Amino acid sequence: MELIDGKKISAEIKLEIAKEVEEIVSKGGKRPHLAAILVGNDGASETYVNSKVKSCEEVGFASTLLRFNENILETELLKSIEKLNNDSNIDGYIVQLPLPKHINENKIIQAIAPEKDVDGFHPINVGRLVIGLPSFVSATPAGIMELLKRYNINTQGKHCVVLGRSNIVGKPMSILMSQKQKYANSTVTLCHSQTENLKEITKQADILIAALGIPEYVTADMVKDGATVIDVGITRVKSETTKSGWKLKGDVKFDEVAPKCSYITPVPGGVGPMTIVSLMKNTLLSAKGEIY
Ligand code: GUN
Repeated sequence: MELIDGKKISAEIKLEIAKEVEEIVSKGGKRPHLAAILVGNDGASETYVNSKVKSCEEVGFASTLLRFNENILETELLKSIEKLNNDSNIDGYIVQLPLPKHINENKIIQAIAPEKDVDGFHPINVGRLVIGLPSFVSATPAGIMELLKRYNINTQGKHCVVLGRSNIVGKPMSILMSQKQKYANSTVTLCHSQTENLKEITKQADILIAALGIPEYVTADMVKDGATVIDVGITRVKSETTKSGWKLKGDVKFDEVAPKCSYITPVPGGVGPMTIVSLMKNTLLSAKGEIY
């Protein structure tokens, strides 16, 4: 069993990005600039957005954080999106999800200019991904693809089972793994809450990608010997042993599943750090005009 070290790989990629940024700036180019919109005071969202801002500093990007009260009107939020769309100083931006219930998330996502949608959530980017055109790819699936590549995991013709059908992870992941290219080319099964005989399917997986958001859902009896297991789960659960009062749990029961695997991602330190670094990469691609 080999651990897939997302922390190490993400640190390497950050250095690669930082080097490229310095080259751009030293030649008189503009420093890439990422903006983030955060609405309300959700603890997890604050942590994620703060990590994104910190990562910008680490790779040499400029960053802007726009914070709004959770009572902000949808029309006001749309105005600030319009401003970012028209601000030539901003290469890309994200609207941290989830948004308060009175705001229509789909409407917000569709208001983001596709060429600045470094989260890859806009239908134009999703559609471009599906038909194999250059597009911004949602950061978590993009980060997982990078891990498969850097660990040289053979996915060609293999059975990849994705658990979870979210727009952010499960769906784009299933598309990426079925694409005709190295480190993809898999036969893909997308499972979800209504899937029958789930265990029969997961046991056939050469690559099992768990993105359900249910802590320790995947147990050893659901996993084939020698499988590659990618754990996307990062649920905060109460803990009496940590100072914060919570700890992160993956979707996979790591201690019993890991011994059966050829490769597995830990939580934390697996997929999580790759998500942020992929957002940085998308921002750099946007700044260089390499997608649009
Ligand atoms: N909420 C959970 N994950 C994400 C993400 O990747 N981007 C945004 N904008 N919100 C999220």
